Formats: sequence, structure tokens, C-alpha cells
Amino acid sequence: MSEIIDGKLIAQNLRADLKEEIKILKEKYNKVPGLAVVQIGNVAASSVYVKAKTKSAQEVGIEVIDHHLENTTSQEELINLINKLNNQENVNGILVQLPLPNHMNEQIILDTIHPDKDADGFHPLNVGKLSISSSNDENLLIPCTPYGCLLMLKGLNIDLKGKNAVVIGRSNIVGKPMAQLLLKESCTVTIAHSKTKNLPQLCSSADILVAAIGKPEIVKGEWIKDTAIVIDVGINRIEIKNNGESKTKLVGDVKFSEAKLKASAITPVPGGVGPMTIACLLRNTTIAFKNSLI
Ligand code: GUN
Repeated sequence: MSEIIDGKLIAQNLRADLKEEIKILKEKYNKVPGLAVVQIGNVAASSVYVKAKTKSAQEVGIEVIDHHLENTTSQEELINLINKLNNQENVNGILVQLPLPNHMNEQIILDTIHPDKDADGFHPLNVGKLSISSSNDENLLIPCTPYGCLLMLKGLNIDLKGKNAVVIGRSNIVGKPMAQLLLKESCTVTIAHSKTKNLPQLCSSADILVAAIGKPEIVKGEWIKDTAIVIDVGINRIEIKNNGESKTKLVGDVKFSEAKLKASAITPVPGGVGPMTIACLLRNTTIAFKNSLI
């Protein structure tokens, strides 16, 4: 039986530490971190995330500057807003919720955010810094979801050095930065993706398995090595039938009921990676604020 990694609790502790730190910074500098949250359109999942991010930020004492724009907003208008926020003194972090409407180029928008205010750690300069920096650089703005995964792994108090880590998924938001972080911890890292041959066999070689593919319950128990650590990044809403009634349910990319019988530790969905992503966004905003004071 595995240890269920309580992301909710770890995130709660991280938020409590940040709240205390922000209180002390406020007493010293008479200002608080500011986070601009930009949402374009009304994608339902984005609205849920933006609401949760805003609430958590406010709870730790971060000022949220909210910009909710119409789906028809032009790319130029969005760029103008970001440039304004780049120069706005009370804004230390800028978050543009993804995905963007189809008429916008995501990379152009992310490149427009000033790297010092890049609350998501998606700007090419921060991506580059992550790949070349040493492992103890406290000032780095690191993508929130993979950093949250790393904190959960570190919380297990095991030696990560030399462990075989398999990351399934090669997105810029999760897969690639996750691989960089694990490499910095001296893991032997393999990135798997949709064209990977013999995925089950590859997964069974993993001491640490991170699933970030966005396919409900695709990773089966039999793919998992005994005593592996499994981090499930997937958040998929599926339909289930209950007494003939149709309901929806959140599941990860891992078949949890099977995987928990094999893994030594595993994150649940919900209550695993999700709360950590938000806590790490608050951490980045606080880091950006502290960097601005230097
Ligand atoms: N959409 C899904 N995940 C994320 C994230 O971590 N940051 C932003 N900005 N958008 C997202």
C-alpha cells in the first residue's frame, strides 16, 4: 500500500509560510506583492483556475489586479495591456491564463511579459535560466506545476540522486521544465510522449513516474514498478454512470485504484498537484516582489 501524498496539506503549509513572510515584508517596506491576473474569454476551466488563484493570493496578502477581457480582444490590445502592467509599480507578477483564443499567438504574448514579472516562469529567459542555473538558486521564477511536483518529491525525504525518472508529456508548461528540475536533482531523466515506443515497458523502469499527458487514467497499475513514486499531474473530467444516472468525476492520468497498490507513494486527484500549482504561483509572485526590492 502506498503513502498518499497530501498536496493539499503541503500547499497549505507553503501558503502559511508565504503569508508570514509577506506580513514581515509589509512591516518593513510598507507594501505587498501585486499579481495581475489576466483572463481572455470565458473558457470554463480557466474561470475555475483564475478564481482559485485569486482567492489564494488574496488570502496570503497578495494584492490581485484583475483584468478579464472579451474573447474578441485583439492581440495588439492584449500586448498593450501587458506593456502597461510591465511598467506598473504595484504589479510584481503577471499571469496570463492559458489557453488563449485561437487568434492569438501564445509565444508572442508570453514573450511580452517582462521576465522579472513572469509569475508563471514561461518567458524564454526564465526557461533558459532554469536549464543552466545551479540547483540552489532561490530567486528563479520556475513553472508552478513542475515546481510543486518537485516540492512534493522532496517532502518524501528520499535521496533523488541517480533515480530513474520518467516524465510522460513534453509540454512547455509541465513536461519539459519537470525534466529540467529532476535533472538538477541528479535524476536520470527520460521524457516520453505520444510517439514513444513501448510506453508501459519504459514506465516500468521508473523509480519516479510523472504523468502529464492529459489522458484520463491511461497509466495502468501494471506499468508501475513496485515501490515507484507516482506524481499524477492530470486533471480530467470524465462522465460516469451511477445507478443509470450520468455524473462527472475528476480523475488523473493514472489509474489510481491500481497504482496505489504498487507505488510506495502517489499523489491523488484532486488534492495532489493542483493545490501545489497555486501555492507555487504565490511563491513566484513573492520572489518577484523580493527581487524588485533588491
Ligand atoms: N493553463 C493551464 N495551466 C496554466 C498555468 O500554469 N499557467 C497559466 N498561465 N495558464 C495555465
